[in-house]
Amino acid sequence: MITTPDGVIDVNGRSGALGGPPDQARLRSLRAQATSVLVGAGTARTENYGPASKQGLQIAVVTTSCALDFTSPLFTSGCGIIATTVNAPAVPAHSIRAGTDIVDLAAIIEQLPLGMVQVEGGPRLNAALFEADLVDAINLTVSPRIGGVRGASISEAPHELRNFALASVTTDSDFVFVRYERIRSA
Ligand SMILES: NC(=O)c1ccc[n+]([C@@H]2O[C@H](COP(=O)([O-])OP(=O)(O)OC[C@H]3O[C@@H](n4cnc5c(N)ncnc54)[C@H](OP(=O)(O)O)[C@@H]3O)[C@@H](O)[C@H]2O)c1
Repeated sequence: MITTPDGVIDVNGRSGALGGPPDQARLRSLRAQATSVLVGAGTARTENYGPASKQGLQIAVVTTSCALDFTSPLFTSGCGIIATTVNAPAVPAHSIRAGTDIVDLAAIIEQLPLGMVQVEGGPRLNAALFEADLVDAINLTVSPRIGGVRGASISEAPHELRNFALASVTTDSDFVFVRYERIRSA
């Protein structure tokens, strides 16, 4: 996720204006380590998700409605799959399903290929993952820009505070990259 210092995560519904080449390079490097991407349907729609440039990387779109554009390159390429409930409508794409009324995210993650799952937001999916305590690490970019309209932050507030430890802070031009890792008590 990328955020401005004052917590803005998009400009007119898109996050691209907050980023730049250093941030895009960071995203590519994270995707290079990932075996799959998990993204909320709102983000897939507004950010107009396409297929991943990394060969074989699956992009799982979390949705209850299943109202997505299945004629878009994300799905026609075979790269996009749907992560939804067992009750959700049939979809013209590969789907993984868990949970009846709400998506059981832990069970969805178990159905993804073994390895690193790169979550790319948005705030509603992030909140559900924090609430279920499924987040092992947060990779946050602080953008050197201020502006836009304050809307959602990187996560709608989870019900419980979760503790993370600072694992690294690096910079590239004016961007700051912070990594936090989850502290789990034994
Ligand atoms: N700055 C950044 O790094 C960054 C990153 C990502 C997104 N964003 C911004 O975030 C905004 C989009 O956010 P959003 O509020 O639409 O959040 P979102 O989490 O991307 O999407 C919400 C939608 O995704 C589905 N969804 C999310 N969590 C779910 C869950 N636990 N179970 C079932 N379905 C779930 C639902 O889709 P259905 O309605 O289809 O059921 C829900 O309506 C955009 O403006 C985007 O630019 C910013």
